Amino acid sequence: MSEKSALVTGASRGIGLGIANRLAAQGYSLTISARDEQRLTEVADTLKAAGAPRVVAVAGDLADPDAVGVLTERHAAEFGAMDALIVNAGVGTAGAIGDFPMRRFDKTLAVNLRAPVLLLQQCLPLLRVAAAANLGRGAKVVALSSITGVYSEAQLGVYGATKAALISLVSTFNTEESGNGVTATAISPAYVDTDMSAWIHDKIPAEEMIEVGDIVELVDSLLRLSSKAVVPNIVVTRAGTDGLRA
Ligand SMILES: NC(=O)c1ccc[n+]([C@@H]2O[C@H](COP(=O)([O-])OP(=O)(O)OC[C@H]3O[C@@H](n4cnc5c(N)ncnc54)[C@H](OP(=O)(O)O)[C@@H]3O)[C@@H](O)[C@H]2O)c1
Repeated sequence: MSEKSALVTGASRGIGLGIANRLAAQGYSLTISARDEQRLTEVADTLKAAGAPRVVAVAGDLADPDAVGVLTERHAAEFGAMDALIVNAGVGTAGAIGDFPMRRFDKTLAVNLRAPVLLLQQCLPLLRVAAAANLGRGAKVVALSSITGVYSEAQLGVYGATKAALISLVSTFNTEESGNGVTATAISPAYVDTDMSAWIHDKIPAEEMIEVGDIVELVDSLLRLSSKAVVPNIVVTRAGTDGLRA
């Protein structure tokens, strides 16, 4: 069987690390990215030990458009195709719309929306190669959105707007590409227990949050679907809530 490969952004911690570990155990070769180079190199070693035949670690800040280009070019040079693109890296940022600082707005948009658009653009030729080589399975994109992209949450307006845009982007991507075997899914969870959600532990303890493993199971299932099935968005709510809040 030919080598399967995936690119996972934000693979050094939290949800991205969970997904990368599962893909490694399933024998995917991986390109992984995050800013902290040392941590990323350590993660690359653990992913190899977990079963990934090859792991390419590319450190960089995805707020920088050039960093996205470096990342996707490394994957292209190493693998020449891409079975799965996991658009996971994102920044969480809280603040009321009334006085949200525009510098923070620009940074949030750069990481949470501009980088995903660039990733889709630049990975598409590689995803099409993988889909053409495996017509039954196709190639998959999974993008980490958020429940704040679906329902309103005070203080998370700008963050939620980038996540709503991601859901829209995934939907249009499917309209354009799914007929040729490249399909995409947004996953839109409420609070997941990671570093990103630690700031709200005084109100929502870690034990009441969705587990990283729950998101990993969903990604795993999505990657095993045939190319005939398109799942545009999966909303994951938190037990004990009305399902409309993070
Ligand atoms: N946790 C939640 O409650 C929750 C809920 C819904 C959706 N999500 C979404 O799920 C995704 C993953 O979240 P998480 O909770 O796993 O986050 P996390 O624990 O904060 O991890 C974020 C990952 O992305 C990397 N990263 C952050 N900023 C980056 C940048 N500018 N350039 C490149 N890499 C960057 C981090 O590594 P470095 O710091 O080394 O760069 C790390 O590997 C995000 O898109 C988030 O919005 C999270």
